[in-house]
Amino acid sequence: MNEHGTEHGGQVQPGTEGYGSSAVRLDQGHVQGTGGLPERFEDPGFPPHIHRAADLDEAAAKRAEKQVAALFGLSILGTLVFIVAYFAIPMDASAYIPGIGDANLSNVVLGVSLAFGLLGIGVGAVHWAKTLMPDEEVVEERHPLRSSDEARSGFVKTMMTGGTEAQLARRPLIKYSLGGALGLFALPVVLQVVGSLGPLPKDGLSKTMWKKGDRLVRDPEHTPIRATDVTIGSVFHVLPESIKDSTHVLEDKAKAAVLLMRLEPEAIKVAKERDWGHEGIVAYSKICTHVGCPVGLYEQQTHHLLCPCHQSTFDVTQDCKVIFGPAKRPLPQLKITVDAEGYLVADAPFREAVGPSFWERG
Ligand code: FES
Repeated sequence: MNEHGTEHGGQVQPGTEGYGSSAVRLDQGHVQGTGGLPERFEDPGFPPHIHRAADLDEAAAKRAEKQVAALFGLSILGTLVFIVAYFAIPMDASAYIPGIGDANLSNVVLGVSLAFGLLGIGVGAVHWAKTLMPDEEVVEERHPLRSSDEARSGFVKTMMTGGTEAQLARRPLIKYSLGGALGLFALPVVLQVVGSLGPLPKDGLSKTMWKKGDRLVRDPEHTPIRATDVTIGSVFHVLPESIKDSTHVLEDKAKAAVLLMRLEPEAIKVAKERDWGHEGIVAYSKICTHVGCPVGLYEQQTHHLLCPCHQSTFDVTQDCKVIFGPAKRPLPQLKITVDAEGYLVADAPFREAVGPSFWERG
């Protein structure tokens, strides 16, 4: 695969799917921009509700009913065969099964009949739901979950009465020994959980492989990138060149993955972002600061990055500030520059931990 291939991790070129549309799916590899703004993305809206044949035609509904009954009948037949075969076929009987060879006849018949017994119920239920059960969306209003004052005071009274009848107040020895037993019983559970957590991560989670002078290379081709390759609208999936020396490639890649984009320099609203980039080319961690999914969509026109897991949205023009969703902090920016040969290199490691924002605590 050369660097312009179109398979996963390849580079999508003009005239191929994905080129020129506004939203770029980031699981389709690098995208070479046109150098200009893409066309506008149209909101497709919701599809219209389509009624099924059985909703409109009683004959179709009857037909579906018979099909469901036939599938349940197939299940009944399978189960009956299973019961008969269980008693009728000797355990040591064997038979030649085409494609398998000699096999234990009892096992084969019991397995196949049981499969039909289960399959008939499963497929019948699915077919029933898809053809005859209501498929309209409905809304159920939420009601307060709090019990009435009467029910609450009744519960307290029952508990108090139970405690009195169990003589807890009169028998302190039982009360305290029970408390001790239950309290101690929790310890083995806690010990197993705490003892199985493995070694402490120390600062391994807050550092990545990026260091000053590390060339930015395409992922997965590992080819360096010249600043001139990154035209307006481009998105490159990037790793540090030093990843080739890693002994824990997956772990290091999971922390060091970066997205490289080019914007018109005047579209960048934050001075620090402009300074940390190169002529409008900016690099940001690809790891979502919510719970660490890889960011999956780049909207070229608005310059928004979207994480598919819980829809956190980051604005690249505002230093990847969170503008929607549960993420609590911006994607960290990697400071970049170019080397003497015109290749993009890191100018410094990440200044903060990448990934979920809870790493910031403490
Ligand atoms: S992991 Fe990205 S929004 Fe939750």
